[in-house]
Amino acid sequence: MTAATATTADIFRPALHYAARNTWLNDPNGLIFHGGVYHLYYQNNPLDNVWGNMSWGHATSPDLVTWTEHPVAIACDAEEDIFSGSIVFDRDNTSGFGTDSAPPLVAIYTSAFKPGSTHAGLQAQSLAYSRDGGYTWTKHTANPVLSRGSAEFRDPKVIRYDGGAGSYWVMVAVEATDFQVVLYRSADLLSWEPLSTFGPANATGGVWECPDLFPLPVDGDPGNLKWVLTVNLNPGGPNNGSAGQYFVGDFDGTTFTSETTVTEGLQDPDKLGEYQWLDWGRDYYAAVSFSDAPGNRRLMIAWMNNWEYANQIPTSPWRSPMTLARELSLRTVDGSPRLIQQATGGFEALSGAGQSFTLASTELSDCTRVLDGAAGTIQRIEATFTPGDADEFGLVVRGNGAHGTRIGIRPAPGTLHVDRRTSGRTDFHASFPSIDAAPIRVVDGSYKLTIYVDRCSVEIFAQDGQVTMTELIFPAQTSADVAVYALGGTATLKSLDITRFA
Ligand code: FRU
Repeated sequence: MTAATATTADIFRPALHYAARNTWLNDPNGLIFHGGVYHLYYQNNPLDNVWGNMSWGHATSPDLVTWTEHPVAIACDAEEDIFSGSIVFDRDNTSGFGTDSAPPLVAIYTSAFKPGSTHAGLQAQSLAYSRDGGYTWTKHTANPVLSRGSAEFRDPKVIRYDGGAGSYWVMVAVEATDFQVVLYRSADLLSWEPLSTFGPANATGGVWECPDLFPLPVDGDPGNLKWVLTVNLNPGGPNNGSAGQYFVGDFDGTTFTSETTVTEGLQDPDKLGEYQWLDWGRDYYAAVSFSDAPGNRRLMIAWMNNWEYANQIPTSPWRSPMTLARELSLRTVDGSPRLIQQATGGFEALSGAGQSFTLASTELSDCTRVLDGAAGTIQRIEATFTPGDADEFGLVVRGNGAHGTRIGIRPAPGTLHVDRRTSGRTDFHASFPSIDAAPIRVVDGSYKLTIYVDRCSVEIFAQDGQVTMTELIFPAQTSADVAVYALGGTATLKSLDITRFA
C-alpha cells in the first residue's frame, strides 16, 4: 500500500502538535537542537498509516509548535528495520565521520534485523551520520557497533558525560523483557564497553523501552544536581497500557543510584500508584528529551498514543500525533525530588492567538454551567478552584450538550480525573472509552489546572506541573463548548483564563 490519501475530512489533525502529513508515526527519536532549529525524528512507516517498515521520519521547528516535514532520514532496507534511538552532535569529531572543522551529527539507532539478515533475530545498536546538519544520513558500513546477542536490546539514548569520572559518551538502552536499563561508555561512539545495569525496579508490568538519563538542578540550585532516569513501559501504566516512569538519584559516571525506588525487583501490584510517573494519562509514551537544547533546558516530547489501540485511532490519512514539548525541572515536594513539567513552545505566535476569555470568581453549587463566549477547539485553559463541600468539580471541554471530556477533581480521595467516555468517537477500541485518575493534593488551599485542548487531545498540567495527564479524544468539530461544574455541593472557580489559538 502507498501512503494513505486524504479521503475523509481531516477533522482531527492537530494545530499545536506534530503529526506526519499522511503516514504513521510512533516514538520520537534523535531529538536535538542543531543549526538553529529543533529536529524531531520519529518512528515512521513511510508507506502506510499503521505500524511497519520502520524508518526515521524527520521534521524541524523553530519554536516547537510549527513543524515542517522533511524526507525520510534513515530508511529501513532488506536487512533491518530502523528502531528508536538518539542523535548527538559529535563536536570533536570523535567518530571520525566528519572533520575537525565540520563535525558530524551521529545517530545511534537500533537495528531490528530481519529474517534474511546475517544477524536475523537480533536487536543491536548501529550508527548513521549526517554532514549536512541532519537532513541526509549515511549508514556506517561496519554496523552494528554494539550487540549483546539479544533479541530485545534497543532504544539507545547517548549523552555526553562530563563529570568527576571523566569525559566520554554514555549510552542508556534497555534489555526490554528483563526490565533492565543497560549503560555503556565510549570514547568514539564506535566501540562500547559496559558500565552497569539498573533494574528491575518499580513498575515492571510491561517491557521497558526508550530510556533517558539527564541531570537537573534541584529547586533551581546549580550546586545541587541530581540525575533523572526515565523508562517507558508497555503495558503496565497507572491507567493501563503504555506509560513512562522516572527515578531520581545520582550518576557517578558508571552507575545510576536511585533514591526514589519503592520496589526493588519486580513490581508490587499494590504500589503502582506510589511510583513516579511522567504522566498519568493514557497517551504519553516513549518520552525522550532533546540533546543540546538552548539555555541548558531539559525539553521532552512523547508519542501521544497508547499501544493498546494505537493502530485503530480514527485519524486519516495520518495516524498518531506527538505531544507538546515540555520543560522539566526538579522540585522538592514533601522532602523528595519530583519532576515538574510545563508545556513550552511558541504558542503565542499562532494565528488567532491571544483572543481570550476571562471569568471573575464564580460560586458553583451543584450545577454545570456552559460558558457563553468561551467555546473553542484549540485553546489553553487556566482554571483555579477552591473546594467547598462538592464531591467533585472541574470543567468539561470539547462539549456539546450531554457530551464532552470531563476533567474533574475529587478532593476527598485526592484525585484528578479525565473522563472521555462521551468525548466523541470511542467505538474503535473497547479500551478507549475510559475514566482515568491521578493523585492530586491541594496546594495553598486551591487546585490549579492548565489544560491544552487541541483537535484530538487534552494535556493537563495540574498544580503548576506537579501532575500531568495526557489523553487523546476524537470529538465532533461542533463540540466546542467549555463548561464548569460542581457536583453534590459547592466549589469556587477563583479564576478562569482561556487563550484561543484558532
Ligand atoms: C516503543 C518501541 C521501541 C522500538 C520502537 C519500534 O514504542 O517499541 O522499543 O524501538 O517502538 O517502532
